[in-house]
Amino acid sequence: MTEIKLADASYYADDDPHLTDAAYDKLRRRNLEIEARFPHLKRSDSPSDRVGAVVSDGFGKIEHGVPMLSLDNAFSDEDVQDFADRIRRFLGLDAQDELVITAEPKIDGLSLSLTYEKGELVKAATRGDGRVGEDVTANARTLADVPKTLKGAGWPDRIEIRGEVYISDADFAALNAAEEAAGRKLYMNPRNAAAGGLRQKDPAVTAQRPLKFYAYAWGDMSAPFAQTQYEAVQKLAEWGFQTNDLFHPHQSVEGLITAYRDMIERRANLGYDIDGVVYKVDRLDWQQRLGFVSRAPRWAIAHKFPAEKAITTLEAIDIQVGRTGSLTPVARLKPVTVGGVVVSNATLHNEEEIERLDVREGDQVEIQRAGDVIPQVLRVLDPERPDRAPAFVMPHTCPECGSAAVREIDDKGKEDVRRRCTGGLICPAQIIERLKHFVSRKALDIDGLGAKQIELFYERGLISAPQHIFQLPQRIAEAGFDPLEKWDGFGDVSAQKLLAAIDERRQAPFARLLNGLGIRHVGQTTSDLFSRTFVQWATFWDHVERARDNPEGEAAQALVSIDGIGGAAVGALTAFASEPHNQEMMQDLLSEITVLDGEAPASESPVSGKTVVFTGTLEAMTRDEAKARATSLGAKVSGSVSGRTDILVAGPGAGSKLKKAQDLGVNVMTEAEWIELISGL
Ligand code: IVH
Repeated sequence: MTEIKLADASYYADDDPHLTDAAYDKLRRRNLEIEARFPHLKRSDSPSDRVGAVVSDGFGKIEHGVPMLSLDNAFSDEDVQDFADRIRRFLGLDAQDELVITAEPKIDGLSLSLTYEKGELVKAATRGDGRVGEDVTANARTLADVPKTLKGAGWPDRIEIRGEVYISDADFAALNAAEEAAGRKLYMNPRNAAAGGLRQKDPAVTAQRPLKFYAYAWGDMSAPFAQTQYEAVQKLAEWGFQTNDLFHPHQSVEGLITAYRDMIERRANLGYDIDGVVYKVDRLDWQQRLGFVSRAPRWAIAHKFPAEKAITTLEAIDIQVGRTGSLTPVARLKPVTVGGVVVSNATLHNEEEIERLDVREGDQVEIQRAGDVIPQVLRVLDPERPDRAPAFVMPHTCPECGSAAVREIDDKGKEDVRRRCTGGLICPAQIIERLKHFVSRKALDIDGLGAKQIELFYERGLISAPQHIFQLPQRIAEAGFDPLEKWDGFGDVSAQKLLAAIDERRQAPFARLLNGLGIRHVGQTTSDLFSRTFVQWATFWDHVERARDNPEGEAAQALVSIDGIGGAAVGALTAFASEPHNQEMMQDLLSEITVLDGEAPASESPVSGKTVVFTGTLEAMTRDEAKARATSLGAKVSGSVSGRTDILVAGPGAGSKLKKAQDLGVNVMTEAEWIELISGL
């Protein structure tokens, strides 16, 4: 039990879990089993009564002025060429037009956003979920590399400066040596040490950590201050920030690839960890035009370094059941360090993969880890050895609930590679995974209600469906448990905070709620699209129900005609809405919460909410750019003309769509008229 406590403390407070999730769960389960069999042995401070140390007493929240994006990845030279080609196509550049792209190291630390007003540091926030981060202002002030007052001149009145907090290799080694001498446990890698250092409760502790900061980007600002990325970074340096010396502009893809190879050569001697090279379009007006797709800019990409490999023993193959019931075989490995990180699990994907690898328990295996991707098993090294374990047989029943686990056949008669548990909501694994997803950062994002708390409330029979979360205090009372503040590990403050965080989400944003439902093919991007398109939940759900009742009808048509929405998403939504238990769940849930309207982007725009179709040749911009711009102004872009079309933008060569639009009385305009309409928006 002491072990569980230690694991809790390191998981919740130290940014340094020392047990794997699986090992932790096992410990906790064993403790519960012992307590169930020998209740008199249960201690008053048993961890089974306790939900991690967090229930966030930590940091305040700061909403970023401009979201902190992530980067798409390139893994090969070809991916880099594709990146440049995509940009050229989007901007409509000719082969002879110069496209300058910068290259710089991708620092393996954690990103930080610093807000300056009139040159004074006023706020510092971690990335968080990209939209809202943690307020680490007091801690960030202790970093020597973070100017408290900007130097020089020419900075906008208000600006968010972004960059990476990291620890050098030498400082990391010294830090760990000191930890060791003091009998404390070591940090796993510099990134964890940096994250732990920045997220200290006491800024005096942060001050003693050797944290450094490289500035490489910016967010919201009151006025533009440069024309190119290169010029902007030079300004950051003039204002007193550390910027990276290995940041250079390149005129060609070959130049980028050379910079990448050069970086691999230098990597070991840089003195700090990097995990790739970031390329960015140099011209800021082009960055603006390129914009972003879902969470990543179109104008930047991270070229990742090749995966690192290691050899270890595969000790067992376990089956994990996911949110949608998929059974994933997981290799439990003898822990081994790969590229600075201890790896003890690797995914085996599915039964075909196991067969292909012919991997068995007890085998020596080569594994690889690339960035944040789940480690993979590459091959078996000793397939010829005698007395090998028998071949692994994928179970045909769910290990969690005993229901049949089947490989579905799709409409084209193709068998799914994944085996899925058919238990649905009688399967505890699926229920728990769905609940975890429902409260996760990208869904309802309920502070203090994480995986461990969900498991605990589930084990105690308090939460088994989303609506139960909002009935928690009543359900605790009805089940005869002490009120939450009496539970060990909660206390008045944290119990109140958790319940307040739950109450706060009674106002649930459309897209977060939809994503949280965990419907197959309806993830974050799709949910965002629906939310922007329909704005009101009731209108959207009405369409789903009508599409369910009449798959050929107008509502179904309206759903599939949304640009970016596929038939799979619509099919999954209507299937979801057909299940009586989902109908009941939705009714109960909606009686607990109010769904906030989605944001129709730029609602003052004359095209927001309008359905626009482009046809013929566009001359001022490419089709991709036209579509992206229209979507960002809140228009729905459709590929075909129907009674629902509001505007047809017809360039030279327009044919049948133009004719149809004219027949239907749709507002038809030229590209120039369209540009006039949206100019200045
Ligand atoms: S630019 C919109 N430049 O990588 C572009 N990011 O995978 C935003 N990172 O969250 C990022 N070094 O924490 C950029 N030179 C660099 C970087 C860098 C490290 C991190 C950053 C970001 C993550 C995206």
